[in-house]
Amino acid sequence: MTNVIDDQALQRTSNQALIDWVSEIAAMTQPDGIYWCDGSRDEYQKMLNLMVDSGSAMWLSPRKKPNSVLVRSDPADVARVEDRTFICCNNEADAGPTNNWRDPRKMKQSLQALYDGCMRGRTLYVIPFSMGPVGSPIAHIGVELTDSPYVVANMHIMTRVGQKVLDTLGPSGGFVKCLHSVGYPLVDAAGNKKKDVAWPCDADNKYITHFPETREIWSYGSGYGGNALLGKKCFALRIASTMAREEGWMAEHMLILKLTSPQGDVKHIAAAFPSACGKTNLAMMNPTIDGWKVETVGDDIAWMKFGKDGRLYAINPEAGFFGVAPGTNYQSNPNAMESLKENSIFTNVGLTDDGDVWWEDIDGPTPSHLIDWHGKDWTPDSGKKAAHPNARFTAPARQCPVIADNWEDPAGVPIDAILFGGRRATTQPLVLQSFDWEHGTFLGSTMASEMTAAAAGTVGKLRFDPMAMLPFCGYHMADYWQHWLNLGATSGAQMPRIFYVNWFRKSDDGKFLWPGFGENSRVLKWIVERCASGSKTDAIRTPIGYLPAPGSLDLRGLDIPDEDLAELLKVDAGDWLEVVPALRQHYATFGAKLPKALAAQLDALEKRLKQA
Ligand code: OXD
Ligand code: MN
Repeated sequence: MTNVIDDQALQRTSNQALIDWVSEIAAMTQPDGIYWCDGSRDEYQKMLNLMVDSGSAMWLSPRKKPNSVLVRSDPADVARVEDRTFICCNNEADAGPTNNWRDPRKMKQSLQALYDGCMRGRTLYVIPFSMGPVGSPIAHIGVELTDSPYVVANMHIMTRVGQKVLDTLGPSGGFVKCLHSVGYPLVDAAGNKKKDVAWPCDADNKYITHFPETREIWSYGSGYGGNALLGKKCFALRIASTMAREEGWMAEHMLILKLTSPQGDVKHIAAAFPSACGKTNLAMMNPTIDGWKVETVGDDIAWMKFGKDGRLYAINPEAGFFGVAPGTNYQSNPNAMESLKENSIFTNVGLTDDGDVWWEDIDGPTPSHLIDWHGKDWTPDSGKKAAHPNARFTAPARQCPVIADNWEDPAGVPIDAILFGGRRATTQPLVLQSFDWEHGTFLGSTMASEMTAAAAGTVGKLRFDPMAMLPFCGYHMADYWQHWLNLGATSGAQMPRIFYVNWFRKSDDGKFLWPGFGENSRVLKWIVERCASGSKTDAIRTPIGYLPAPGSLDLRGLDIPDEDLAELLKVDAGDWLEVVPALRQHYATFGAKLPKALAAQLDALEKRLKQA
């Protein structure tokens, strides 16, 4: 094995803690060699070539998707695995009822047995990366050690990788230690060699573990998405949420968009929605109202710190989009389609006969023949999906036609409004504004999406996903809510205004009442007008919050029946009172840690509804 304390390491960094950690992990995992990533374009191309040469990726047609590859995963490794995701803090009570907890020492002990020699026959890649523009006061540095070239290539797109990060880290800078292995050594302890496979993994032994107290991540057995690209959910949400709590900032599962009015007034909005509620689509939307412009700062994660003026400033810690492919098309998200036109990695999508990608609901006629995500022949009457429902594209954010000019501003963008939302066929109106920050925190803590009619008996059942952070909060959810309340108490009127939106309300006969997509700009306009100081945009006070007064939503040019609009903006106290027991049950999960202010918010809501 290459000695890590070699010229390579010493030329690259003087950070002794980093060199020591790389040595320690190399001693445990026993790779054939160690490669320090420089983040260059050449290195990215080298990784793609390596993947193609080893049979784990294939080039797409340069005429269809220039400089892009298709990768097919093992069918047993296709998504994040929440039941294999662990928060390993010293006290179980700190992880809370919504996380899987393990004792950190015991977890490391059992993982060590798996990591022992797990990189034999492979290269250990050292990926220094910055979450956020390098050197930004809002950014933080991580180093991922991995044995997967696929991870290296994806991290090149999703984060800022390379020497500039090591230079910023300096001799004594701190970093989040991110260890990853696919768990598929090519040589066993006795020296017997094994042939590699296209997608190595250890499907029966996946562990996605987080050690918030030491700011470490140990991920084993999966090569897929958030399990393996450790900058994303593991660092930027689970570990960062614990850092944010300690240091007084916010790490949130939110898109960030920039909205410019015809008069040139600029506002920035952050929005948290659970999966499958259109976050990427909203972040890149083409507005339908004249003269308004939406530009993208980020589509998944927001890190927000306080500026000297007491306002919250946000960066997108990522540099690319790791988007769900099925359902993405020129109608639902033209700017995503433009973003993935080249220099992208496609995982588990279908392949057309002319070397392009295909997935369910992509534009154009369905081809008569494809190769599906299993690598098998597919025809429209195969009765199977050609792309896996969680098939992904990894595309550089800079390729997005509506990427905001300030998306890499190291100072971040000042956040004017925070949106929460979910998928609610009934009860929840199109938009409402919270009374204040504390009430807004209550709205976020009770965020829910309705389950669909697909499964009998579940219609209308609410699945709670507070602040869209249920799988991503690295500590006790009730302590997280208290953190929100504390920040609001400190920064008061400087905090963003909080809104709750619902694009998914349906009529009794099951049709969406609101057209959605670009028309959502009408709601965004109302929101930013409400944020303007001395706002003239009218709202009416209801038991659940402020709703648009009649005529205050700009509906010019939109053909929407009056009765649909009335339904979209209806607040039915009876319907809401029926939801209250579910809210109480949800809060009961968090026991004594539930902030008193939130329990009081729920009581006050019930009282207002009863008086309505
Ligand atoms: C994602 C997710 O992939 O939230 O962004 O699952
Ligand atoms: Mn997400």
